[in-house]
Amino acid sequence: MKLSPRLQMVADLVREGVTVADIGTDHAYVPAYLVACGKCPAAVASDLREGPLMNAVTALALYGVTEQVSLRLSDGLDAYSPADADDFIFAGMGGTLIVELLSRTDWIFDSGKRFIFQPMTHAELVRAYLLQNGFHILAEHACFDECRPYVAFSAAYDPAYRPHYRKSYIWMGELPQAMNEAASYYLTKQYIYLKKRADALERAAMLPDEVRTIREILPDLLPYVRLK
Ligand SMILES: C[S@@+](CC[C@H](N)C(=O)[O-])C[C@H]1O[C@@H](n2cnc3c(N)ncnc32)[C@H](O)[C@@H]1O
Repeated sequence: MKLSPRLQMVADLVREGVTVADIGTDHAYVPAYLVACGKCPAAVASDLREGPLMNAVTALALYGVTEQVSLRLSDGLDAYSPADADDFIFAGMGGTLIVELLSRTDWIFDSGKRFIFQPMTHAELVRAYLLQNGFHILAEHACFDECRPYVAFSAAYDPAYRPHYRKSYIWMGELPQAMNEAASYYLTKQYIYLKKRADALERAAMLPDEVRTIREILPDLLPYVRLK
């Protein structure tokens, strides 16, 4: 079974030998792969809607992992208890939704659990939530999939870990530790977005505090920017 580069990047962040849960699983490719290749002994795959879970039934049968992967309807983590899994994946959703789903779950503050995120938009909101709530981003990667750049990162609750985070951190995460072409492309897009926003706000004489913050962030991004 071969995953797309984006889903392989997500699967690679899951720990070996754990029970994994995939939130918003749709086709359940990631849990099917993790169990079929022997990295995880068991998995839970959940979705908000029944339609995607029907896709999941087909994939699990195809890969011969129906017994080891249980399916459930769940809005985010609502139908989970902490004992259900060790690693929890949130892939292919927007950052705003991911933050909303985390915010209403009180048992995520457990250092034994690992959370893997692959936000399609607003990754900075997920990183900001994690930092503000005592989580440590452990690893982060970027890849191209059909010419689009994607990022994924893993995090664990670790309130004792309190480094000084620069304001730019939520826009860059741990990508400078794992630089490749996709990471550089992604950081270039962030740079261009922030610069355009600061320029536009400045022209309109609006939100001077935000302009000041963005002007502080831009030099940190600059070493990774590749402008043609
Ligand atoms: C774009 S698909 C991503 C599928 C897969 N995780 C991936 O990365 O390829 C998003 C999935 O999230 C599900 N979803 C949306 N909101 C959800 C929620 N609140 N709780 C659980 N699943 C949700 C959708 O039904 C859909 O199947």
